[in-house]
Amino acid sequence: MKYHAKPATAPLTGEVRVPGDKSVSHRAVLFSAMAQGTSHLQGVLDSADVRSTIDAVTALGAQVTQTGHSETGLELEVTGWGGDGPREPLEAIDCGNSGTTARLLLGVLAGWDRHVVLQGDESLSRRPMGRVTEPLEKMGAEFETRGGLLPISVRGGLLKSTEHHLNIASAQVKTALLLAGIRTEGRTLVIEPGASRDHTERMLPAFGIPVGTGAAANSAWVDGPAYLTATDVAVPADPSSAAFLVAAGVLVPHSDIALPDVAVNPTRTGFLKVLARMGAHVGVDLGEESGGERVGTLHVRGSLPLHSTTVSAEEIPSLIDEIPVLAVIASAAEGTTRFEDIAELRVKESDRLTAVAGALTALGCTVRTGEDWLEVDGPCALGSAELDSLGDHRLAMAYTVAALVAKGPVSIDRFESVDVSYPGFLGDLQALLLSASE
Ligand code: S3P
Repeated sequence: MKYHAKPATAPLTGEVRVPGDKSVSHRAVLFSAMAQGTSHLQGVLDSADVRSTIDAVTALGAQVTQTGHSETGLELEVTGWGGDGPREPLEAIDCGNSGTTARLLLGVLAGWDRHVVLQGDESLSRRPMGRVTEPLEKMGAEFETRGGLLPISVRGGLLKSTEHHLNIASAQVKTALLLAGIRTEGRTLVIEPGASRDHTERMLPAFGIPVGTGAAANSAWVDGPAYLTATDVAVPADPSSAAFLVAAGVLVPHSDIALPDVAVNPTRTGFLKVLARMGAHVGVDLGEESGGERVGTLHVRGSLPLHSTTVSAEEIPSLIDEIPVLAVIASAAEGTTRFEDIAELRVKESDRLTAVAGALTALGCTVRTGEDWLEVDGPCALGSAELDSLGDHRLAMAYTVAALVAKGPVSIDRFESVDVSYPGFLGDLQALLLSASE
C-alpha cells in the first residue's frame, strides 16, 4: 500500500502510550512457552513479528490463550512445554519477517532431540543466520542450511557448554546461546565486543534461571541444566517505537508531548543520549520497574535548531534500530552528523544504510556513505519525493517523520510494513497532531 504522507500543519501535543516493547514481548512469550506451568503476560505487543513468535511456540506445543486486549496490548495466558520439551511440528515453522523469532528459536531448539524446519519471508531469508548456527554447532547442534540462510533444518540434541567470544554485539545471538546453555551441563559463557540489549539477562531470573554477568566486560552466563518456571510479566512500552514520535515532537515546532511507561533500559536509550547532545528538549520522568525493566515518561518539545554530532561505534548497539530516524533528525541539525561502524544496518530487514542515504538524497539532502559509515549534512530543506519502505517497518516510520517537515508531498510505498512492530503508528501520530487543533 502506498501512503501519501503530508506535512504537519500543527504541532504535536498530548499523550500517547506506545505499544509494548517488541524485544521484551518476544522473550516473554518464548520463555513462558519453555517454562513449566502457566504464565500471565500483560501488554504484549500485538504486531506481526510477535504473532510469528506466538504461532511458532503454539506449533511447538505451548498453549497460548488470549485472555484480553487492553489499551497497552495483548493479555496472554501461556502454558509451557516445561520438562517435556517442544513437540516436533509436522510442518515448517514460518518466522515471517522476524529475525528475533528465528534466531532465538534456533537456540531453544538446539538443546532438544527434535527435527524442526524454520523458514521466513523474502527479507528474513536474506538475513545471516550463521552468526547463530555456527556457535550452536560448536555446542553440538546440527543444522542444514543453504549458505547460512533460512530455511534451516534443525536437529538438536545433547549439547556441551562452551565459552563463546562473539565478533558482533548482538542480543539475538547472545540470547540464543544462553537459551541453548540452559540445556547443557556446566557453564555457557557469552562475551560480546560491545553492550547489546540485556532483556534476557533481566527476564530469565524471573523464570527461575539466574544469569551471571561481569566475568568480563559485556559477558553473560548461565549454568545448566536448568528449567524455567512460569511467572507473570508486564511488558513496558517500546523505546524504539517511541523514537518515531519523539523525533516528530523534536522536529515539528511548538510540539509538546508525553509518552508514558517507556522502557528506559540503558542498553536501549542511546537515541535519547544522542538527542540530548544535539540540543533536543527531551526529558525523562523515571517511574517504577515493570517486567524487570525501569520505565519512564518521555516529555518531548519542539527543539529546532539542533546541532550535529558524531555517533560513535560504542553507542551503536544501544540505538541500532533508531538510526534511520536519527538520520532524518540529522538532516535538520546544523553541521555534519556522522554515524560510525554501522555495517550491521546492511543486514537488518533491508540494507538500511543504502536505503536511508537514498531516501535523504531523494528528499534533497547531501549525504555521504562508506561501507560502514554515513554522514548527513544539515540543515537541509526536505522536498517532495516518492519513497519505498522496501517492506521495512522502521524505514516506513522514519520516512513518515521526514514527511511531517517536508515542503511537499511524500509518498511511501509498502507502508503496511509498519504492522511488523507498530500497527497503530499512524493513529497515534494523528492523535498527537489533532490534539493541537481541538
Ligand atoms: C533484538 C536485537 C537487535 C535489534 C532487533 C531486536 C532483540 O538485533 O536490532 O530489532 O530483540 O534481541 P541484533 O541482536 O541482531 O543486534
